[in-house]
Amino acid sequence: MSEEKATLRVTIADKQMVAQDICLFELCPVNGVALAPFTPGAHLGVRVPTGEMRKYSLCNDPDETDHYVIAVKKELGGRGGSISLIEETQAGDEIEITLPKNDFALKPGPSSYIFIAGGIGITPIRAMIKHLIATRAKPFKLYYFTRSPEMMAFRDEFLSPEFRGKVVIHHDGGDPEKAYDLWPVLEEPKGAHLYCCGPRGLMEAVRDITGHWSSAAVHFEDFGAAKARPEDNTPFTVALAKSGERFEVPVDKSILEVLREAGKVLPSSCESGTCGTCRTRLVSGEPEHRDLALAEHERARNIMICVSRAKSAELVLDL
Ligand code: FES
Repeated sequence: MSEEKATLRVTIADKQMVAQDICLFELCPVNGVALAPFTPGAHLGVRVPTGEMRKYSLCNDPDETDHYVIAVKKELGGRGGSISLIEETQAGDEIEITLPKNDFALKPGPSSYIFIAGGIGITPIRAMIKHLIATRAKPFKLYYFTRSPEMMAFRDEFLSPEFRGKVVIHHDGGDPEKAYDLWPVLEEPKGAHLYCCGPRGLMEAVRDITGHWSSAAVHFEDFGAAKARPEDNTPFTVALAKSGERFEVPVDKSILEVLREAGKVLPSSCESGTCGTCRTRLVSGEPEHRDLALAEHERARNIMICVSRAKSAELVLDL
């Protein structure tokens, strides 16, 4: 998280509901201070009125350098951060944000791009699509899934003639039986790169369907769904094979957090189980994998210590 420490203050220039429970915020610099540039797929940390720092993807065109746009969904089952941002702020307020950071970068090189967005997961993908259109880069196809038309942000935009033939929109009414069949889309990679952001279930389904793809061609963005609530976790012991040290991992901390508190210097980036930076060799123990980065055949011997935990009482890591 260290790279997100630098913060700046911005003004909420505009905010409006753009779909059921989804609010769009336009953020402008205070006193003409320039905004840092960002790349497609980047996110910001936003200090919400409850005091917590929450991550939100930037969804405007990265070429727009005078403002940032984020879309925030009211997470009714969450800890109240998104609700407080929507309900307790108004246009003209100043808020604190971090500088943009990108754990979901659009990689150059593939023959085409496939985007799969579930609900509010459209936000980083919208910035990517705006970039591809502006630069006339490689072709793309977007699969955009929501429960209903009312829950679809940017609906008019993606229904416009500009996107004819480039966007597939599907509403499942919340019924898994009515989920869109992605197998015909993903059966053959054909040199494409795939970017997926949305609910955990959608991302896990896409990961399972793309088991035959190169892992370098499949990209996920996840803002914390992998970090279960403390009441859903159990404590366990992590032992380090090389140093012989042992640490207790409580329900409210990750392995990474516990080891860092003990002074270990360990790499990380997304800290949500998608980028692969914190991959660590597993010596023994039964892991509870919560990441989207490891392929099935890698799971017996590796663990992403930013999110994954243990089913056994102890895990031994090659550290
Ligand atoms: Fe990205 Fe752990 S830091 S997967």
